[in-house]
Amino acid sequence: MAFYRRVGSVPPKRHTQHRRPDGGLYAEELMGEEGFSSDSALLYHRGIPSALVDARPWELPDQTLTPNAPLVPRHLKLHDLFPGEEHKGTDPVTGRRLVLGNADVRISYAVSSLTSPYYRNATGDECVFVERGAATVETVFGALEVGRGDYVVIPRATTHRWVPTGEEPLRTYAVEANSHIAPPKRYLSRYGQFLEHAPYCERDLRGPSEPMLAEGTDVEVYVKHRAPGGLAGTVHVVPDHPFDVVGWDGCLYPYAFDVADFEPITGRVHQPPPVHQVFEGAGFVICNFVPRKVDYHPLAVPVPYYHSNVDSDEVMFYVDGDYEARKGSGIGKGSISLHPGGHSHGPQPGAVERSLGAEAFDELAVMVDTFRPLDLGEAGTASDDGKYAWSWSGRGPSGG
Ligand SMILES: [Fe+2]
Repeated sequence: MAFYRRVGSVPPKRHTQHRRPDGGLYAEELMGEEGFSSDSALLYHRGIPSALVDARPWELPDQTLTPNAPLVPRHLKLHDLFPGEEHKGTDPVTGRRLVLGNADVRISYAVSSLTSPYYRNATGDECVFVERGAATVETVFGALEVGRGDYVVIPRATTHRWVPTGEEPLRTYAVEANSHIAPPKRYLSRYGQFLEHAPYCERDLRGPSEPMLAEGTDVEVYVKHRAPGGLAGTVHVVPDHPFDVVGWDGCLYPYAFDVADFEPITGRVHQPPPVHQVFEGAGFVICNFVPRKVDYHPLAVPVPYYHSNVDSDEVMFYVDGDYEARKGSGIGKGSISLHPGGHSHGPQPGAVERSLGAEAFDELAVMVDTFRPLDLGEAGTASDDGKYAWSWSGRGPSGG
């Protein structure tokens, strides 16, 4: 993240002695991106951040990917994935089921009630969208209170855990990058301040505000990391509790952003999806479609025109409201539509006519567009309705 925060106890000058009340030294750690050439933070630990007492493999959930073949648009019903009381035995990290993925990004879904293990994703940044429920995200930088509609952006290798706190199960839609996730560069000044045309700004981003300290010995930390051909997991056992940071400062830290704080940009005629963009990673973008007034030219067509995004696959996650352009397709809350590159997509039959004269859309959807094709994870295959591809023509291969 581009702007500076300072939390807890840090010495006035970096790389100088910072002493504990007992006279010993805190251990200074630089956590930085792109070698020493991008954003970083300096953290002051009570213990030694490199200390390990054991390591063993962590068997990750099924990461198998199956090509989208034959190439068709698909409707995946995520709410079918965790039936009944399954959330009571599920946590928001190890319980994630892989829906879609490619070499740049993986999208997974979980419905959970259990606290996750301590966790560190060393493959890239995570952007976890909270569909429903509430949680405390405890991190080495401090805690974030998050709830319905929040994006939680967690930098690569940040030790943290999810603690569901709400009355209802926590529903999380996790976008795991193999890179960093940040606001689009075009929203930022050359030095990183949000510009006036950006649909959100620094005031909308919530970072940790005080240190997170905990006691414990021989604590397990689940590490997801890169491996030949994909991912692997390792459980590190660390001698002292990883939440031992008395203070930190810098421009690298986890933060939350409530989608309700995204100020939509509207126009007389249909605005293209880039106006809805919220974040970007290497090989993908994240956009959101929020409740908004719609196009006000007297002859405007408020729903999108048909479009063939020849360079991308489009994943829309329908969170709330009515999604005008998809009416009649079976898509509802909790659905994903996958519109792959190589096939044109747009409104369902009748949607254009129904939208004429509309003044506002009450819809909330999160979109991930990827620049490499997406393959189906086990949860993508398991939740595929098998008939969405035929919803524009009204008949499929069986004639029905
Ligand atoms: Fe689209």
